Amino acid sequence: MSKLIAPHGGRLINRILTGDARRKAMDKAESLKKITLNTREIADLEMIANGAFSPLEGFVNSKEYESILHSMHLSNGLPWTIPITLSVSKEGKGKISANDELTMVDISGKMLGILRVEEIYPADKKREALQVYGTDDENHPGVAAVYQQGEFYVAGPVSLFDRISHDDLTKYRLDPVETRVLFQKKGWNTIVAFQTRNPVHRAHEYIQKSAMEIVDGLLLHPLVGATKSDDIPADVRMECYEVLLKSYYPKDRVVLSVMPANMRYAGPKEAIMHAIIRKNYGVSHFIVGRDHAGVGNYYGTYDAHHIFREFDPQAIDITPLFFDYTFFCKRCGGMASTKTCPHDKSNHVFLSGTKVLEMLTQGIVPPVEFTRPEVAEVLIRQTKKA
Ligand code: ADX
Repeated sequence: MSKLIAPHGGRLINRILTGDARRKAMDKAESLKKITLNTREIADLEMIANGAFSPLEGFVNSKEYESILHSMHLSNGLPWTIPITLSVSKEGKGKISANDELTMVDISGKMLGILRVEEIYPADKKREALQVYGTDDENHPGVAAVYQQGEFYVAGPVSLFDRISHDDLTKYRLDPVETRVLFQKKGWNTIVAFQTRNPVHRAHEYIQKSAMEIVDGLLLHPLVGATKSDDIPADVRMECYEVLLKSYYPKDRVVLSVMPANMRYAGPKEAIMHAIIRKNYGVSHFIVGRDHAGVGNYYGTYDAHHIFREFDPQAIDITPLFFDYTFFCKRCGGMASTKTCPHDKSNHVFLSGTKVLEMLTQGIVPPVEFTRPEVAEVLIRQTKKA
């Protein structure tokens, strides 16, 4: 039996009710006040309830909010860089008070679970933006999401009636407890996780395979919660991953599964969260490449590497694997990085995102040095449909 890394805080949280407790909560829920969660909030709720956000058991209170913004740690000393909050408007705040129990519903009115209100406190949006995102520029998609929320946060532990259900990607939706069982079944001790919000191109493939040389297996773990409107939709990306894995990866050394979280584009702060979350899924190593979880020019290329130095490695526990900018070099005759290639840039195959999109729109397959043709074909088919 393999021995996996312990969850963040030592215990995998499970806030999904079963048996009698579930029946009683569901009976009670009918008569409680309701609070409606949007899809972003439901993604956070799902991550709390299934243990991906362990040790959180609910939306954070003001003490934790302050602690996270001020020190990048929870009040018990565990690293934590992004507050997980549930907002309400001023009007909504007027209808609820501390110690209330609220039934959480989605926009269709479906009852999801119960939130025991511990506290309602004002959101400090500007400071949150500056501390988490390093900017209060509303053009930053993560900052914009914070600014669009209500003015107050409702804190408290949550209990769900059932797992959050999804119509799509069902076979790929493994909760932390399930990935842990799977890794044990496979006898894997060391697993590297790869976070992505993009199709896997050659640079991604190279760093994954470099990491696979030193661990038992790869968890290809795309984020499928909310992303920017110009990011490639999750269903298309999944098709890209499927065709790539089929032709270029050893079947028994890769698990493809999705993570329901939203993308916050918080760069270094999100890199820490991405690592902690993967630790909860049972992963021992985590890839951090260039401008991890970045957007535009808000972060330095390697800020997401440097931030790890600010934490006690034992408290983070999962081992980050840092990769520099990676590309195909014509002189080297293969994939390389700024760490391994001595040749100047004119030898490197570089394509901007805009250029790639332009090629795909025209039905042109980008060079094989940039992307596998099977992946390009999926993307071309998609751009034709759009
Ligand atoms: S992210 O928002 O999920 O970080 P993306 O899917 O593009 O975006 O990247 C996934 C991972 O690959 C991140 O760790 C990122 O830093 C890394 N990465 C992407 N492109 C490169 C590259 N050319 N060289 C090195 N690392 C890269």
